[in-house]
Amino acid sequence: MDAFQFRNPTKLIFGKGQLQTLDTEIPQYGKNVLVVYGGGSIKRNGLYDQVMERLSAIGANVAELAGVEPNPRLTTVRKGVELVRENDVDFLLAVGGGSVIDCTKAIAAGAKYDGDVWDLITKKEEVKATLPFGTVLTLAATGSEMNSGSVITNWETNEKYGWGSPLNFPKFSILDPENTFTVPENQTVYGIVDMMSHVLESYFHPATNTKLQERMAEAILLTVMETAPQLLENLESYEHRETILYSGTMALNGILQMGARGDWATHNIEHAVSAVYDIPHAGGLAILFPNWMRHNIEATEPKLKQLAIRVFGIDPEGQSDRELALTAVDKISEFWTSLGAPTRLADYDIDDSQLDLMADRAMKRGSFGNFRTQEKEDVMNVLQMSL
Ligand code: NZQ
Ligand code: ZN
Repeated sequence: MDAFQFRNPTKLIFGKGQLQTLDTEIPQYGKNVLVVYGGGSIKRNGLYDQVMERLSAIGANVAELAGVEPNPRLTTVRKGVELVRENDVDFLLAVGGGSVIDCTKAIAAGAKYDGDVWDLITKKEEVKATLPFGTVLTLAATGSEMNSGSVITNWETNEKYGWGSPLNFPKFSILDPENTFTVPENQTVYGIVDMMSHVLESYFHPATNTKLQERMAEAILLTVMETAPQLLENLESYEHRETILYSGTMALNGILQMGARGDWATHNIEHAVSAVYDIPHAGGLAILFPNWMRHNIEATEPKLKQLAIRVFGIDPEGQSDRELALTAVDKISEFWTSLGAPTRLADYDIDDSQLDLMADRAMKRGSFGNFRTQEKEDVMNVLQMSL
């Protein structure tokens, strides 16, 4: 294992009817609250009213930032920072999916920084302080509810970057499976692909002797793959929403990543694709991940073989390691396709006209990938295989 330190200060509040804990959590941080949310799903499903009721019960002064985009934009973060300053905000409350939470994290850091928040996102300047914030999660996918990462897009320059700071963990996150009942089928599928991708990114790492990490990763994959088709049969199944919600958090809250940092090249390539074409993050992952595995087959083969046997139950008798590995890639891809995820960039009308720009954006911070270093020609190849 790699040497590691682990600290995750987010208080996870999980289960039915837990929204009322806002009454005791928020007053610890102040009276002036900025509520951050997306394009309106929380108004349609009634969660907005429930949150406002709780805030009113504790006598909070409420300001609102509505309309955070999927793939949240720098312009919206800047709007949030202004709202914090105008309203002397003490505490931010994100009510939504990963995009709303990521935007809130950027506002929390931007509000405590004198210059432009983009300096923090591009890591030109270090985050030295943040405003406290909490989340009410409405979509199982990113793990942002219990990690310190955030992904923000600068649409003017076609740049989308992941960034983070140990100061940017949510103080608390409320996860009630019922708040995910109204997530539509396509977003439910994207969430499932995203959490599985986080597990896979973690699985491909250069550390040795990570037996428990690998078994935990396989357990999450098996659980998600068993549950996903049943959930899609009944989107309002409490039991299946609960399993998927917990799986999404466990995939990227740092527990699986202890002692092994994972690869994260596919995420980097996907962020470059969605910086140029505004596509759903996990739609991009479903297309790119199998091709990253194939492109890097020399390196991915042993872990893929292990996946073939342990997760997909393939009998290794009479099969070469390469055959087993490629079967595992096909199985992952077939599973995502069976749920309705896209398989080719063409599914989003993406052709080869901007390949160079996408590869350029992926390389903006230099070569990348902890497990297998990717250079521009690698990115070009993965993109080409994905057309
Ligand atoms: O905007 P509203 O109206 O709320 O609708 C959203 C949005 O259209 C809808 N939705 C969310 N909860 C719902 C709901 N609709 C009905 N009922 C509900 N309960 O779903 C749509 C997608 O929401 P979004 O927040 O964009 O999805 P997700 O959670 O997948 O977040 C994606 C973003 O997270 C980043 C991605 O790059 C992307 O920008 N990531 C963040 C990570 C992190 N912070 O750790 C890691 C990930 O790898 C990822 O890169
Ligand atoms: Zn992801």
